[in-house]
Amino acid sequence: MNATIIGTGSFLPAYKLTNRELSTMVETDNEWIVTRTGISERRIQKSGDVADMASNAAIKALDNAGINPKDIDLIIASTSTPDYLFPNCASIVQKITGADNAACFDISAACSGFIMALSAAKAYIEAGMFKKVLIVCSEKMSGITDWKDRSTCILFGDGAGACVIESSEHDGIKSVDLHNDGKLGGVLTAKRNENIVMNGQEVFRFAVKKVPETINTLLEKESTDVKDIKYFILHQANVRIIESVAKRLGTDMNRFPVNLSKYGNTSSASIPILLDELNRENKLHAKDLLVFAGFGAGLNWGSILVEWNCRKS
Ligand code: ACO
Repeated sequence: MNATIIGTGSFLPAYKLTNRELSTMVETDNEWIVTRTGISERRIQKSGDVADMASNAAIKALDNAGINPKDIDLIIASTSTPDYLFPNCASIVQKITGADNAACFDISAACSGFIMALSAAKAYIEAGMFKKVLIVCSEKMSGITDWKDRSTCILFGDGAGACVIESSEHDGIKSVDLHNDGKLGGVLTAKRNENIVMNGQEVFRFAVKKVPETINTLLEKESTDVKDIKYFILHQANVRIIESVAKRLGTDMNRFPVNLSKYGNTSSASIPILLDELNRENKLHAKDLLVFAGFGAGLNWGSILVEWNCRKS
């Protein structure tokens, strides 16, 4: 069997932390942040758990897919900011959503978490082990942000995105390309009980080189051309990274949807949040080819080619 996406959901906390408010906390200003990153505001979860955001997004994805939670047989949660060392986030999502028949595990792959989770879901389904998989990516980046460090605190936000994957005759998740270089891990770290430490310029240089490379590899594997892709849905870290990737692929920005001005960088949640927005705005149609691409701490990077077949939008 093949694997295909049949529903999406997302959740963003209500509180908007604007660039203006940030400029009362650290020495910065709206113009610098917008020019260098494209971010205008980000959402902050003032109370509640990471698993609460995850469950909200999951319930919406299950509803969008028209699936009874009891029919889910695997939940994969991606988070770098879990509420507990154990139980894992997936188990808490199981309890809240009533997906009582699911096996549950978490993955930790920072901003590439959605890419890793989707590739795992594809592999399990194609191996015949599971039929209906719920992926949920939930991140409370505000909890690991140093609010005195102006070079990082302007970047991150909180939120969750989810999708339901089903075994199908339709080859919806067509191809995967994944990479990691642990030797570069020191460039972007968050040690246990400590905040994010990042060499922004190194991460920037890495991303603009590796993301086009993985996308080209992916498209070559499937004998697909850049011009065949409806949307490139990239991890939402910095609009300048996305613009650079578009340029290096020789295509224009109208095929690179961007929502980071509203939410900042929500790590592994950013791709499924953006996917859900596109789905709910009816911008995705059957047979559309989509590329998802992520990059982040590890350092890791990767991409997935999807043919859209979501029953509902
Ligand atoms: N406001 C005003 N000035 C600032 C700010 C700020 N918020 N932050 C830094 N500056 C200053 C610096 O101190 C420096 O001043 P100096 O020239 O007097 O020394 C100047 O601005 C330039 O700083 P740079 O670090 O060179 O700025 P740059 O253009 O590289 O932008 C940024 C920094 C936005 C962090 C950029 O490097 C970036 O986006 N990198 C990628 C980071 C990223 O995407 N990380 C996450 C990816 S992986 C994941 O999602 C976990």
